[in-house]
Amino acid sequence: MSSIQILFVDDEQNLLDAFKRRFYRQKNWVVRYATGGEEALRMLEKQPCDVIVSDIRMPGMDGVELLNKVADTYPETIRYILSGYSDRAMILNSMNVAHQYFNKPCNLELLEESINVAIRVFGELRNPRIQKLLASIKNLPSPPTVYDRLSREFRISDPSMEKVVDIVKTDPAISAKILHLVNSAFFGFRDSITDIAQAAMMLGTDVIRSLVLVTGVVSATFRRTCPEDVLDRFSSHSISVAFLAYDFSKWLGWNREMRESAFTAGLLHDIGRLVLISHFRDYIHKIPVNDPDSNHTIIDERDTFEVDHAEIGAALLSIWGLPIPVVNTVMCHHQPSLTAGDEIGMPTVVHVADVVSHHQNTSTPIDPALFDPEIIRRYDLTQKVSQWMMTSSLFVQASSN
Ligand SMILES: [Fe+2]
Ligand SMILES: [Fe+2]
Repeated sequence: MSSIQILFVDDEQNLLDAFKRRFYRQKNWVVRYATGGEEALRMLEKQPCDVIVSDIRMPGMDGVELLNKVADTYPETIRYILSGYSDRAMILNSMNVAHQYFNKPCNLELLEESINVAIRVFGELRNPRIQKLLASIKNLPSPPTVYDRLSREFRISDPSMEKVVDIVKTDPAISAKILHLVNSAFFGFRDSITDIAQAAMMLGTDVIRSLVLVTGVVSATFRRTCPEDVLDRFSSHSISVAFLAYDFSKWLGWNREMRESAFTAGLLHDIGRLVLISHFRDYIHKIPVNDPDSNHTIIDERDTFEVDHAEIGAALLSIWGLPIPVVNTVMCHHQPSLTAGDEIGMPTVVHVADVVSHHQNTSTPIDPALFDPEIIRRYDLTQKVSQWMMTSSLFVQASSN
């Protein structure tokens, strides 16, 4: 593997020393350190880098200004920003320029892992096959405005339920669609939910934010280019995978933040299909849309269109600025072993949820051959999945209905 050039920029020498102590073990990283924006730019002139990690608040040129300059001159560089919660206004300004945020004090282990994932994901997304398709799509869908506004609020702090509800309510079409979804049989609420405030209370604000993204994009963008029955199937499959991923990660003992990320990744895992269906008129005739063996789908898509929905979905989400772990999960949801570590990670959770979702309403047991064989072996997954399904209320409810 060729070496990776990384530049850390921070005016606090203590933090740079901590980086040095931590990162010297990364044998394929070539790490440089700068104590300010001007020095960083001079270093980049001599040798550009693959990843830049910059503090947001520095004397002279701040992190936002630095990353803007880097984005202009070296658009391929992956840009991280380190910020404190008090940097509210600056964080807002950096929204369009940073690929990923880390709060100070910084968890160096997570930062290290995230940089390694980002390098792999961005490396793969620069594949000419994917770039060629992206370049040929005239109107690449953009996330709905309401989602942008919610993301800003979440970036600054943990917004109140009222704030989230107020923002969602500004888009009546999205509000109506969310209410339609939460009242669907899948959620299993006994009483019908009649307003967004009630839905936010039952589901949590992060789940509402993800639902805004999917319903907004589906209704605003793909409604024009995809047949309605395809969109309906997409929505119900996405919701089902999101909830299964959330539930499985809860069974695995993940914390709330990780469960909510798994939910978002589950909700968005197949969004690349909508891009392919919209772009290739013959997609629906050539690719079976409901094939439970989704590995066939990936192979058929590659054979027919040169790209598959997992990679094009990941590319779209990276353009939208979704967190790198979510982008990585979408990219690997059919073959999580590509990115699997010692512990079960988000790509495996969403992969399991996807396979289980295709079998949720059938009484036949799941064929283990539908899972990525490597993760079955590595995590003893067949047993874990059946234990989870035996205890989860999602399945207990479904079988008693
Ligand atoms: Fe998929
Ligand atoms: Fe799927």
